[in-house]
Amino acid sequence: MEYQDLLVEVHDKVALIRLNRPKALNALNDNMMNELGEAFAKFEKDPAIHVIILTGSEKAFAAGADIAAMKDYTYQDTHRDNYIGRNWEHILKVRKPVIGAVSGFALGGGCELAMMCDFLVAGDNAKFGQPEIKVGVTPGAGGTQRLPRAIGKAKAMDMLLTTRMIDAAEAERIGLVSRVVPADKLIEEVLEIAQGIAQMPVSVAMQIKDCVNRAFETTLSEGVNYERRLFHAGFGTPAQREGMYAFLEKRLPNFEGL
Ligand code: HXC
Repeated sequence: MEYQDLLVEVHDKVALIRLNRPKALNALNDNMMNELGEAFAKFEKDPAIHVIILTGSEKAFAAGADIAAMKDYTYQDTHRDNYIGRNWEHILKVRKPVIGAVSGFALGGGCELAMMCDFLVAGDNAKFGQPEIKVGVTPGAGGTQRLPRAIGKAKAMDMLLTTRMIDAAEAERIGLVSRVVPADKLIEEVLEIAQGIAQMPVSVAMQIKDCVNRAFETTLSEGVNYERRLFHAGFGTPAQREGMYAFLEKRLPNFEGL
């Protein structure tokens, strides 16, 4: 499928989606978010795809929601048409693993979109920030909620109130990203990570994602109970037999189709 504001490639079980509005540093507009929803839905349905990578360009993952597009919106426009709510959260419905590969700016809505990924790998040139207060609004895609959960209240308040950008090293230190790699190797490294996950049983990867996300929505005992149910259910699946027998037979497991 051809997109206007995305570039999409498939690398053996891994889909790579690039945000692509280079002249506006990938500012996120309605068309791009609609297309992103379509691309996620397509790969979620495609049994040949096990992992999805979301990235931008070397200069910018995304410099925020498109300020030019929203500058004249009224309260009625945003509330009635459910701005952001209408097309930003398709990514949260994806049950397969989604890795964010962040190079350059991830600001405002760009940082919020990145935080909707399952985990982030940053190029060493990445910069994260929530500068919305400078353009007169609060964050609107989860910045005040996901950021403190990811990095704690002190760091989140600092970023949200002062608009200070943090670099990749600080982002890794405080747990916003899982790894930092040289910017010019970012896609290569993230593809390798994704290919590794893609060799695992996709059904188990999806269950792990489901369990981890549940940890943020429920109590500890409910979450552990949920995890235990899925663990028990695993003993009714071919992935468990293949994984454990392969270990004991000293061979690599073959999780094809599992
Ligand atoms: C629209 C944007 C944009 C944005 C950059 N551009 N960010 N257009 N919306 N968020 C455009 C610029 O207008 C410019 O277009 C071109 O991209 C290059 O940007 P420059 O500013 O010339 O580049 P540079 O000097 O390198 O500065 C990079 C930057 C700066 C530090 C990232 O662009 C910047 O501060 N951008 C805005 C960041 C921001 O405030 N984001 C939060 C937005 S509010 P022209 O045509 O002049 O070349 C938000 C709300 C989220 O995200 C709430 C719901 C999700």
